[in-house]
Amino acid sequence: MNNDKLGAALTEKTVRAYSQITDPRLRELTAGLIRHLHAFVKETRLTDLEYESAWSLLAEMAKFTGAERNEFLLLLDVLGVSELIDAITHQRPPTAVGYALVGPFYRANAPCRKRGQSIVSDDTGGQRVRITGRVYDLASARPVANATLDTWQAATNGLYENQDPDQPDYNLRGRFQTDEDGTFDLVALLPTPYPVPTNGPVGELLRLAKRQPCRPAHIHFIVSAPNYETLITQVFRNGDPIMDEDPVFSANRNLIGEFCLHNGEYSLHYDFQLKRGVSTMPKAPLA
Ligand code: BEZ
Ligand code: FE
Repeated sequence: MNNDKLGAALTEKTVRAYSQITDPRLRELTAGLIRHLHAFVKETRLTDLEYESAWSLLAEMAKFTGAERNEFLLLLDVLGVSELIDAITHQRPPTAVGYALVGPFYRANAPCRKRGQSIVSDDTGGQRVRITGRVYDLASARPVANATLDTWQAATNGLYENQDPDQPDYNLRGRFQTDEDGTFDLVALLPTPYPVPTNGPVGELLRLAKRQPCRPAHIHFIVSAPNYETLITQVFRNGDPIMDEDPVFSANRNLIGEFCLHNGEYSLHYDFQLKRGVSTMPKAPLA
């Protein structure tokens, strides 16, 4: 047998070795992963040295993964995988705000806050922005009462509270409920751009590719309600000069808010549309 035939036989033998997995979807995913990994090795003619680099990179990424950070999710984000999954599984009409990746800094169980309350601790520097809007049913335009808005954002030093010992626990995070008319009202920090973590293997990859590491300014939202598909999204600032250079490919035109400045105070009015479906919450990458 020549090398190509040997390779093909090995791929099929490996797939067969996993054919006893009972769950059909897991069996399909495992077979697909084996076939694609083998195809990659064949196509690129991966050398011993390159293979060593690959598994060393995985080991290095594990060292950068813990309670404050998930380097594996970050790698998938900068390789466009998270955005690709969102584009395939969460198509939304152009009349609705878009879906956006959850990112590695979401924490579950943010404090429940009252209408009008701020997610920003008093000692956090930066401009505040009052955010108001409405959650409504995409098909009927009727308000969705008691929807939950789970929001989080980075401080102006570019750090989420769990990365920064100087911020109070759960600073810049909060959960709000909509009223009977589907409206909400909260105060957040005017978002500013910040770099994704660059002191690990993913940062090294960005440097090698000469990619700039800053995400355009944004605020994260997860909007959920019983019997509605959960909307995971981010709101960006209109006119942000790095909108087209998002290191994780998430920023796009149907995720833009008009942050208005009147008499020194910022405000944003922004509506969220929900589609009927099954309500789920993403797995929090951090504890
Ligand atoms: C974020 O916006 O929190 C984020 C998303 C992807 C990678 C790094 C940070
Ligand atoms: Fe973010």
